Amino acid sequence: MAVDLLLGLQWGDEGKGKIVDVLTKDYNIIARFQGGPNAGHTLEFDGHKHVLHTIPSGIFHDNAINLVGNGVVIDPVIFKKELDNLKKFDLDIQKKLLISRKAHLILPTHRLLDAASEASKGKAKIGSTLKGIGPTYMDKTGRNGIRVGDLELTDWKDRYASLRDKHISMIDFYDAKIDYNLDELETEFFAAVKVLKTLTFIDSEEYLYQAQKAEKTILAEGAQGSLLDIDFGTYPFVTSSTTTAAGACTGLGVAPTDINEVFGIFKAYTTRVGSGPFPTELFDEDGATMGRVGNEFGATTGRPRRCGWLDLVALKYAVRVNGVTQLMMMKGDVLSGFKTLKVCTAYIYQGKEIDHLPYNIEPENIEPIYTEMKGWAADLTGMTEASQLPENLNTYIEFLEKELEVPIKIVSVGPDRTQTIKR
Ligand code: IMP
Repeated sequence: MAVDLLLGLQWGDEGKGKIVDVLTKDYNIIARFQGGPNAGHTLEFDGHKHVLHTIPSGIFHDNAINLVGNGVVIDPVIFKKELDNLKKFDLDIQKKLLISRKAHLILPTHRLLDAASEASKGKAKIGSTLKGIGPTYMDKTGRNGIRVGDLELTDWKDRYASLRDKHISMIDFYDAKIDYNLDELETEFFAAVKVLKTLTFIDSEEYLYQAQKAEKTILAEGAQGSLLDIDFGTYPFVTSSTTTAAGACTGLGVAPTDINEVFGIFKAYTTRVGSGPFPTELFDEDGATMGRVGNEFGATTGRPRRCGWLDLVALKYAVRVNGVTQLMMMKGDVLSGFKTLKVCTAYIYQGKEIDHLPYNIEPENIEPIYTEMKGWAADLTGMTEASQLPENLNTYIEFLEKELEVPIKIVSVGPDRTQTIKR
């Protein structure tokens, strides 16, 4: 059985958690393939809101095994907090949640290095979530990292100590003052590692291979978004992992030929949290309305998200890089009440009109060209059928489908599981 893949097409926060939760009933295994606790996947059902950072979004379903793949970076401290939040659900965590031995660990000093690096950058800072993501992936590619499987070795604490000491000397190199209490951080870290060690560690690529042979259905869950990809995103204002489709192959050990559907999730408008270019960003009342109605605050950091019109040039690029086969449009309800909607269909770049994403999309290089469309007044949040959607919203959707050349199969009209319309 092939693997389906679900990922974000913008700068993250598209609503992947909600859709994975909605789709999980159709899958035996939900597997996260990259990122770490920089992610905040929000799920709402039965009147409650849940935010997951590292644990896959299928955890609340009885039928699904949830797998943290080798491409993910795990902070035991945050992981323990996530597990604590799940206690009230009485889930069989040892059975339902499997961890790849090849996933890398975020150490307390990775977080300190992240803070020192950002502080030393001043105005040029990335706007990192400061969860230690960048330094951990640097240690991974630098071949210095500590992996989950190492926790099963007798000398793992020696390895830990030698990497920690190296990090401390690196922190001193940065031109930034970072206050920390290493004893406190380590006490918390070792307590959390103890909890992590109670979970089930597996050779996840082998597990997934056998699962495919046994005809199990598998959904690979991405984190962040394509425009934050280390290669294809708005570098250097990106995260440190491969957030695009290729990341599912390297982050799970799944062969490219075994990928079936690629579900691309996008918001009906655009948001971004942290620094970096954002051609359609709004600084006016329209942007403020999107932020207010859409409750656009980071699920991990609480930072307000920057808001703007839908950027079809960037979205088309993401659709192509990922080979998206089905689209899912989120937060359509947030646009209710706008008289006129704008969609960016091209850029003026170096005096010429272009319809692809160029190397430099900083504001001084790009002027967005918009197509205006009529808005709709109706409140969508109580709608359950495609036939109820207002005509102008259907026109909006059909315009996007024509431009992107991929069908929009789901329209989300609110944060709850039930506010999901299939087309
Ligand atoms: P880092 O991955 O924490 O180093 O952050 C790098 C950039 O990616 C920053 O601009 C963050 O705001 C952004 N980022 C990281 N994770 C997410 C996410 O899950 N959603 C949205 N933005 C994110």
